[in-house]
Amino acid sequence: MKEAARQQIARLGAIDIEPARPAPTAPALALLLALDAWSEPEDLFAGLGRDADARAALARTLVSLIDAGVIVVAETPEAAQDERFAEFWRWGAGAAHWFFGQKNPRFLQPEELEGVLAAQLAAHPAPPLFVRHDERRDRIDLPPPTDDAFLQIARARRSSRAFDPGAAVPAGVVADCLHAGLAIVGVFDGSVAGEGELPLAMAPSGGGRHPYEGFLLARRVDGLEPGVYHYGSAEHSLVPVDGDGALDVAPLLGDQAWFADAAAVIFLVAHFERTASKYTHPNALRVLLIEAGHIGQNVLLRACAHGLAATPTGALADRRVEAALALDPVRQAAVYAIGLGRRAAPSDPSGVRATRASGPARRGG
Ligand SMILES: Cc1cc2nc3c(=O)[nH]c(=O)nc-3n(C[C@H](O)[C@H](O)[C@H](O)COP(=O)(O)O)c2cc1C
Repeated sequence: MKEAARQQIARLGAIDIEPARPAPTAPALALLLALDAWSEPEDLFAGLGRDADARAALARTLVSLIDAGVIVVAETPEAAQDERFAEFWRWGAGAAHWFFGQKNPRFLQPEELEGVLAAQLAAHPAPPLFVRHDERRDRIDLPPPTDDAFLQIARARRSSRAFDPGAAVPAGVVADCLHAGLAIVGVFDGSVAGEGELPLAMAPSGGGRHPYEGFLLARRVDGLEPGVYHYGSAEHSLVPVDGDGALDVAPLLGDQAWFADAAAVIFLVAHFERTASKYTHPNALRVLLIEAGHIGQNVLLRACAHGLAATPTGALADRRVEAALALDPVRQAAVYAIGLGRRAAPSDPSGVRATRASGPARRGG
Protein backbone atom coordinates (compact mmCIF):
# COMPACT_ATOMS: atom_id res chain seq x y z
CA MET A 1 0.00 0.00 0.00
CA LYS A 2 2.70 2.41 1.02
CA GLU A 3 4.72 1.73 -2.11
CA ALA A 4 1.60 2.07 -4.30
CA ALA A 5 0.87 5.42 -2.72
CA ARG A 6 4.46 6.53 -3.29
CA GLN A 7 4.29 5.55 -6.93
CA GLN A 8 0.95 7.29 -7.43
CA ILE A 9 2.33 10.46 -5.83
CA ALA A 10 5.44 10.21 -8.03
CA ARG A 11 3.26 9.92 -11.17
CA LEU A 12 1.12 12.87 -10.08
CA GLY A 13 4.19 14.96 -9.45
CA ALA A 14 5.97 13.66 -12.54
CA ILE A 15 9.05 12.82 -10.48
CA ASP A 16 11.35 9.80 -10.32
CA ILE A 17 11.83 8.15 -6.94
CA GLU A 18 13.90 5.18 -5.93
CA PRO A 19 11.56 2.39 -4.78
CA ALA A 20 12.97 2.12 -1.25
CA ARG A 21 14.25 5.61 -0.54
CA PRO A 22 11.89 8.40 0.48
CA ALA A 23 12.73 11.45 -1.60
CA PRO A 24 12.37 14.73 0.27
CA THR A 25 9.89 16.69 -1.77
CA ALA A 26 9.82 19.89 0.28
CA PRO A 27 12.83 22.19 -0.15
CA ALA A 28 12.96 22.85 3.59
CA LEU A 29 13.14 19.14 4.36
CA ALA A 30 15.86 18.58 1.75
CA LEU A 31 17.79 21.42 3.30
CA LEU A 32 17.42 20.06 6.81
CA LEU A 33 18.68 16.67 5.67
CA ALA A 34 21.66 18.37 3.99
CA LEU A 35 22.33 20.41 7.12
CA ASP A 36 22.82 17.44 9.40
CA ALA A 37 26.50 18.47 9.48
CA TRP A 38 28.04 21.96 9.47
CA SER A 39 27.93 23.54 5.96
CA GLU A 40 29.15 26.74 4.35
CA PRO A 41 26.34 28.82 2.81
CA GLU A 42 28.23 28.90 -0.53
CA ASP A 43 28.12 25.08 -0.70
CA LEU A 44 24.35 25.12 -0.35
CA PHE A 45 24.00 27.51 -3.32
CA ALA A 46 26.67 25.77 -5.43
CA GLY A 47 24.32 23.47 -7.34
CA LEU A 48 21.96 26.28 -8.33
CA GLY A 49 24.25 28.08 -10.78
CA ARG A 50 22.76 31.39 -11.88
CA ASP A 51 19.10 30.38 -11.49
CA ALA A 52 17.93 33.56 -9.73
CA ASP A 53 14.52 32.19 -8.69
CA ALA A 54 16.03 29.05 -7.16
CA ARG A 55 18.69 31.09 -5.35
CA ALA A 56 16.06 33.47 -3.97
CA ALA A 57 13.83 30.57 -2.85
CA LEU A 58 16.75 28.86 -1.10
CA ALA A 59 17.78 32.10 0.59
CA ARG A 60 14.23 32.71 1.83
CA THR A 61 13.92 29.15 3.15
CA LEU A 62 17.30 29.33 4.89
CA VAL A 63 16.57 32.63 6.55
CA SER A 64 13.15 31.54 7.77
CA LEU A 65 14.60 28.31 9.22
CA ILE A 66 17.36 30.29 10.95
CA ASP A 67 14.77 32.75 12.30
CA ALA A 68 12.65 29.86 13.60
CA GLY A 69 15.69 28.42 15.39
CA VAL A 70 15.54 25.22 13.32
CA ILE A 71 18.93 25.87 11.71
CA VAL A 72 21.68 27.05 14.04
CA VAL A 73 24.58 29.20 12.90
CA ALA A 74 28.10 28.20 13.94
CA GLU A 75 29.82 30.15 16.70
CA THR A 76 26.58 31.50 18.19
CA PRO A 77 25.32 30.82 21.73
CA GLU A 78 22.65 28.55 20.18
CA ALA A 79 25.35 26.46 18.48
CA ALA A 80 27.28 26.13 21.73
CA GLN A 81 24.06 25.07 23.48
CA ASP A 82 23.37 22.55 20.71
CA GLU A 83 26.80 21.00 21.09
CA ARG A 84 26.51 20.75 24.86
CA PHE A 85 23.09 19.15 24.43
CA ALA A 86 24.50 16.57 21.96
CA GLU A 87 27.12 15.53 24.53
CA PHE A 88 24.59 13.91 26.86
CA TRP A 89 21.12 13.63 25.28
CA ARG A 90 20.56 10.01 24.26
CA TRP A 91 16.79 10.05 23.80
CA GLY A 92 16.44 11.23 20.21
CA ALA A 93 15.09 14.35 18.59
CA GLY A 94 11.42 13.48 19.18
CA ALA A 95 11.77 13.39 22.96
CA ALA A 96 13.91 16.55 22.88
CA HIS A 97 11.40 18.44 20.74
CA TRP A 98 8.61 17.51 23.06
CA PHE A 99 10.47 18.24 26.29
CA PHE A 100 12.14 21.50 25.34
CA GLY A 101 9.15 22.58 23.21
CA GLN A 102 6.71 22.44 26.12
CA LYS A 103 8.85 24.67 28.34
CA ASN A 104 8.00 28.32 29.00
CA PRO A 105 4.27 28.05 28.27
CA ARG A 106 2.02 31.09 28.45
CA PHE A 107 0.03 30.63 31.66
CA LEU A 108 -3.60 31.65 31.52
CA GLN A 109 -4.64 34.08 34.22
CA PRO A 110 -7.60 33.12 36.47
CA GLU A 111 -10.07 35.40 34.62
CA GLU A 112 -9.09 33.83 31.29
CA LEU A 113 -8.77 30.32 32.65
CA GLU A 114 -12.36 30.10 33.86
CA GLY A 115 -13.72 30.99 30.42
CA VAL A 116 -11.34 28.65 28.60
CA LEU A 117 -12.14 25.72 30.90
CA ALA A 118 -15.90 26.37 30.67
CA ALA A 119 -15.71 26.50 26.86
CA GLN A 120 -13.67 23.29 26.78
CA LEU A 121 -16.13 21.55 29.05
CA ALA A 122 -19.04 22.66 26.85
CA ALA A 123 -17.26 21.35 23.74
CA HIS A 124 -15.90 18.14 25.30
CA PRO A 125 -17.76 16.96 28.39
CA ALA A 126 -15.35 15.48 30.92
CA PRO A 127 -14.96 11.69 30.80
CA PRO A 128 -15.67 9.69 33.98
CA LEU A 129 -12.76 10.21 36.35
CA PHE A 130 -12.72 6.69 37.74
CA VAL A 131 -13.89 3.25 36.66
CA ARG A 132 -16.79 1.88 38.71
CA HIS A 133 -17.31 -1.75 39.69
CA ASP A 134 -20.86 -1.24 40.98
CA GLU A 135 -22.46 -3.10 38.07
CA ARG A 136 -19.89 -5.92 38.06
CA ARG A 137 -21.21 -9.27 39.25
CA ASP A 138 -17.64 -10.68 39.31
CA ARG A 139 -16.54 -8.00 41.78
CA ILE A 140 -14.37 -9.15 44.69
CA ASP A 141 -14.73 -6.85 47.68
CA LEU A 142 -11.41 -6.23 49.44
CA PRO A 143 -10.84 -5.99 53.19
CA PRO A 144 -11.19 -2.41 54.43
CA PRO A 145 -7.93 -0.42 54.56
CA THR A 146 -5.88 -0.73 57.73
CA ASP A 147 -6.53 2.38 59.74
CA ASP A 148 -2.98 3.04 60.94
CA ALA A 149 -0.80 6.14 61.30
CA PHE A 150 0.28 5.98 57.67
CA LEU A 151 -3.29 5.92 56.37
CA GLN A 152 -4.27 8.80 58.62
CA ILE A 153 -1.50 11.01 57.25
CA ALA A 154 -2.07 9.94 53.65
CA ARG A 155 -5.82 10.54 53.91
CA ALA A 156 -5.34 13.88 55.60
CA ARG A 157 -3.06 15.15 52.82
CA ARG A 158 -4.84 17.75 50.73
CA SER A 159 -3.46 20.46 48.51
CA SER A 160 -3.91 23.46 50.72
CA ARG A 161 -3.35 26.87 49.16
CA ALA A 162 -4.22 28.93 52.25
CA PHE A 163 -0.72 29.93 53.36
CA ASP A 164 -0.45 32.24 56.36
CA PRO A 165 1.11 35.37 54.82
CA GLY A 166 2.92 36.38 58.02
CA ALA A 167 4.01 33.15 59.65
CA ALA A 168 7.41 31.51 59.38
CA VAL A 169 7.92 27.76 59.36
CA PRO A 170 10.52 26.11 61.61
CA ALA A 171 13.74 25.11 59.85
CA GLY A 172 13.37 21.58 61.24
CA VAL A 173 10.02 21.14 59.50
CA VAL A 174 11.38 22.25 56.12
CA ALA A 175 14.42 20.03 56.73
CA ASP A 176 12.11 17.05 57.33
CA CYS A 177 10.33 17.72 54.02
CA LEU A 178 13.60 17.86 52.09
CA HIS A 179 14.80 14.74 53.87
CA ALA A 180 11.66 12.73 53.08
CA GLY A 181 11.90 13.59 49.41
CA LEU A 182 15.58 13.60 48.65
CA ALA A 183 17.93 12.41 51.39
CA ILE A 184 20.27 9.56 50.61
CA VAL A 185 19.60 7.00 53.30
CA GLY A 186 21.68 4.07 52.10
CA VAL A 187 23.64 2.52 49.26
CA PHE A 188 23.44 -0.72 47.30
CA ASP A 189 25.68 -2.44 44.78
CA GLY A 190 24.52 -1.75 41.23
CA SER A 191 23.71 -4.88 39.23
CA VAL A 192 25.80 -3.80 36.23
CA ALA A 193 29.49 -4.77 36.30
CA GLY A 194 31.60 -1.76 37.17
CA GLU A 195 28.61 0.29 38.29
CA GLY A 196 29.75 0.41 41.91
CA GLU A 197 27.62 1.64 44.81
CA LEU A 198 24.38 3.42 44.03
CA PRO A 199 22.50 5.71 46.40
CA LEU A 200 19.18 4.82 48.01
CA ALA A 201 16.58 7.37 49.00
CA MET A 202 13.06 7.12 50.41
CA ALA A 203 11.63 7.63 46.92
CA PRO A 204 12.37 4.93 44.33
CA SER A 205 14.55 5.79 41.34
CA GLY A 206 14.76 3.85 38.06
CA GLY A 207 18.18 2.18 37.87
CA GLY A 208 19.28 3.95 41.06
CA ARG A 209 20.02 7.09 39.04
CA HIS A 210 18.45 9.64 41.41
CA PRO A 211 18.28 12.36 38.75
CA TYR A 212 16.72 15.01 41.03
CA GLU A 213 18.39 17.68 43.11
CA GLY A 214 16.35 19.73 45.57
CA PHE A 215 16.44 23.51 45.82
CA LEU A 216 14.84 25.47 48.63
CA LEU A 217 13.51 28.95 48.09
CA ALA A 218 13.20 30.19 51.66
CA ARG A 219 11.14 33.30 52.33
CA ARG A 220 10.11 32.80 55.95
CA VAL A 221 12.01 29.89 57.43
CA ASP A 222 13.10 30.37 61.05
CA GLY A 223 16.85 30.72 61.35
CA LEU A 224 17.45 30.93 57.60
CA GLU A 225 18.23 34.09 55.65
CA PRO A 226 15.68 34.54 52.84
CA GLY A 227 17.27 33.14 49.70
CA VAL A 228 17.71 30.13 47.47
CA TYR A 229 19.62 27.11 48.73
CA HIS A 230 20.73 23.78 47.29
CA TYR A 231 19.94 20.72 49.40
CA GLY A 232 22.85 18.35 49.97
CA SER A 233 21.11 14.96 49.92
CA ALA A 234 24.16 13.12 51.30
CA GLU A 235 25.01 15.56 54.13
CA HIS A 236 21.40 16.73 54.77
CA SER A 237 22.56 20.31 54.50
CA LEU A 238 21.99 23.53 52.60
CA VAL A 239 24.35 25.77 50.66
CA PRO A 240 23.34 29.17 49.27
CA VAL A 241 22.77 29.44 45.54
CA ASP A 242 23.93 32.47 43.60
CA GLY A 243 20.82 32.99 41.48
CA ASP A 244 19.24 36.24 40.31
CA GLY A 245 17.74 36.88 43.75
CA ALA A 246 14.09 36.55 42.69
CA LEU A 247 12.16 35.51 45.79
CA ASP A 248 8.61 36.42 44.74
CA VAL A 249 7.01 33.04 44.41
CA ALA A 250 3.95 33.65 42.23
CA PRO A 251 5.88 34.85 39.14
CA LEU A 252 8.01 31.70 39.34
CA LEU A 253 4.91 29.48 39.53
CA GLY A 254 2.77 30.52 36.59
CA ASP A 255 1.60 33.72 38.32
CA GLN A 256 -0.66 31.67 40.59
CA ALA A 257 -1.55 34.28 43.18
CA TRP A 258 -2.14 31.80 46.01
CA PHE A 259 1.53 30.83 46.02
CA ALA A 260 2.56 34.41 46.83
CA ASP A 261 2.15 33.74 50.58
CA ALA A 262 4.08 30.46 50.67
CA ALA A 263 6.84 30.60 53.28
CA ALA A 264 9.06 28.29 51.22
CA VAL A 265 9.12 26.38 47.96
CA ILE A 266 10.97 23.15 47.24
CA PHE A 267 11.95 22.81 43.58
CA LEU A 268 12.83 19.42 42.07
CA VAL A 269 15.45 19.80 39.38
CA ALA A 270 16.16 16.92 36.97
CA HIS A 271 19.71 16.21 35.85
CA PHE A 272 19.11 14.40 32.55
CA GLU A 273 22.63 13.05 32.27
CA ARG A 274 22.34 10.79 35.30
CA THR A 275 19.53 8.80 33.72
CA ALA A 276 20.62 9.18 30.07
CA SER A 277 24.12 7.87 30.78
CA LYS A 278 22.62 4.50 31.76
CA TYR A 279 19.40 4.31 29.75
CA THR A 280 19.51 5.39 26.12
CA HIS A 281 15.88 4.63 25.11
CA PRO A 282 13.54 7.64 25.26
CA ASN A 283 11.36 5.66 27.67
CA ALA A 284 13.93 6.78 30.24
CA LEU A 285 12.56 10.33 29.96
CA ARG A 286 9.20 8.95 31.09
CA VAL A 287 10.92 7.24 34.02
CA LEU A 288 12.74 10.44 34.97
CA LEU A 289 9.52 12.48 34.99
CA ILE A 290 7.64 9.86 37.04
CA GLU A 291 10.31 10.15 39.72
CA ALA A 292 9.41 13.78 40.45
CA GLY A 293 5.99 12.52 41.54
CA HIS A 294 7.46 10.02 43.98
CA ILE A 295 9.67 12.65 45.59
CA GLY A 296 6.87 15.20 45.60
CA GLN A 297 4.49 12.84 47.37
CA ASN A 298 7.02 12.12 50.11
CA VAL A 299 7.53 15.86 50.63
CA LEU A 300 3.77 16.45 50.71
CA LEU A 301 3.12 13.65 53.21
CA ARG A 302 5.86 14.93 55.51
CA ALA A 303 4.49 18.45 55.27
CA CYS A 304 1.01 17.14 56.05
CA ALA A 305 2.29 15.19 59.06
CA HIS A 306 3.68 18.50 60.37
CA GLY A 307 0.34 20.26 59.80
CA LEU A 308 1.69 22.56 57.07
CA ALA A 309 -0.26 23.85 54.11
CA ALA A 310 1.37 22.40 50.99
CA THR A 311 0.52 22.37 47.28
CA PRO A 312 2.48 20.94 44.38
CA THR A 313 2.69 22.55 40.96
CA GLY A 314 4.03 21.76 37.52
CA ALA A 315 3.27 25.31 36.33
CA LEU A 316 6.84 26.53 36.41
CA ALA A 317 7.91 29.67 34.57
CA ASP A 318 10.99 27.85 33.32
CA ARG A 319 13.20 30.79 32.36
CA ARG A 320 12.54 32.62 35.63
CA VAL A 321 13.08 29.51 37.75
CA GLU A 322 16.30 28.72 35.90
CA ALA A 323 17.58 32.22 36.67
CA ALA A 324 16.48 32.12 40.32
CA LEU A 325 18.10 28.71 40.89
CA ALA A 326 21.15 29.38 38.65
CA LEU A 327 20.43 26.27 36.58
CA ASP A 328 21.98 25.11 33.32
CA PRO A 329 18.87 25.01 31.09
CA VAL A 330 20.46 22.49 28.72
CA ARG A 331 21.47 19.82 31.22
CA GLN A 332 18.99 20.51 34.02
CA ALA A 333 15.29 21.21 34.23
CA ALA A 334 13.10 22.28 37.12
CA VAL A 335 10.20 19.84 36.77
CA TYR A 336 8.07 20.13 39.91
CA ALA A 337 7.69 22.45 42.88
CA ILE A 338 5.94 22.27 46.24
CA GLY A 339 4.83 25.42 48.05
CA LEU A 340 4.88 25.19 51.84
CA GLY A 341 3.67 27.40 54.66
CA ARG A 342 1.76 27.60 57.89
CA ARG A 343 -1.96 27.10 57.40
CA ALA A 344 -3.78 30.42 57.31
CA ALA A 345 -6.88 29.03 58.96
CA PRO A 346 -7.43 25.96 61.11
CA SER A 347 -10.46 24.94 59.01
CA ASP A 348 -9.89 22.78 55.93
CA PRO A 349 -9.55 25.27 53.09
CA SER A 350 -9.67 22.74 50.27
CA GLY A 351 -13.43 22.24 50.42
CA VAL A 352 -13.15 18.45 50.48
CA ARG A 353 -16.08 16.34 51.61
CA ALA A 354 -15.29 12.74 52.44
CA THR A 355 -17.64 10.05 51.17
CA ARG A 356 -17.04 7.10 53.46
CA ALA A 357 -14.10 6.04 55.58
CA SER A 358 -12.54 3.84 52.91
CA GLY A 359 -13.87 5.51 49.77
CA PRO A 360 -12.40 8.12 47.48
CA ALA A 361 -12.82 11.76 48.45
CA ARG A 362 -15.64 13.51 46.64
CA ARG A 363 -14.06 16.72 45.61
CA GLY A 364 -10.51 18.04 45.38
CA GLY A 365 -9.25 21.62 45.48
C1 LIG B 1 1.56 17.18 38.79
C2 LIG B 1 0.63 18.09 39.55
C3 LIG B 1 0.58 19.42 39.21
C4 LIG B 1 -0.24 20.30 39.93
N1 LIG B 1 -0.23 21.62 39.61
C5 LIG B 1 -0.95 22.48 40.38
C6 LIG B 1 -0.87 23.86 40.14
O1 LIG B 1 -0.20 24.33 39.23
N2 LIG B 1 -1.55 24.69 40.95
C7 LIG B 1 -2.30 24.23 41.99
O2 LIG B 1 -2.87 25.05 42.69
N3 LIG B 1 -2.40 22.91 42.23
C8 LIG B 1 -1.75 22.03 41.46
N4 LIG B 1 -1.80 20.69 41.72
C9 LIG B 1 -2.65 20.21 42.83
C10 LIG B 1 -3.97 19.65 42.33
O3 LIG B 1 -4.83 20.70 41.96
C11 LIG B 1 -4.57 18.82 43.45
O4 LIG B 1 -3.72 17.71 43.69
C12 LIG B 1 -5.98 18.31 43.11
O5 LIG B 1 -6.87 19.38 43.04
C13 LIG B 1 -6.45 17.28 44.09
O6 LIG B 1 -6.43 17.78 45.40
P1 LIG B 1 -5.56 17.10 46.55
O7 LIG B 1 -4.11 17.37 46.26
O8 LIG B 1 -6.01 17.79 47.80
O9 LIG B 1 -5.82 15.63 46.56
C14 LIG B 1 -1.04 19.80 40.99
C15 LIG B 1 -1.01 18.44 41.29
C16 LIG B 1 -0.18 17.59 40.59
C17 LIG B 1 -0.14 16.14 40.94
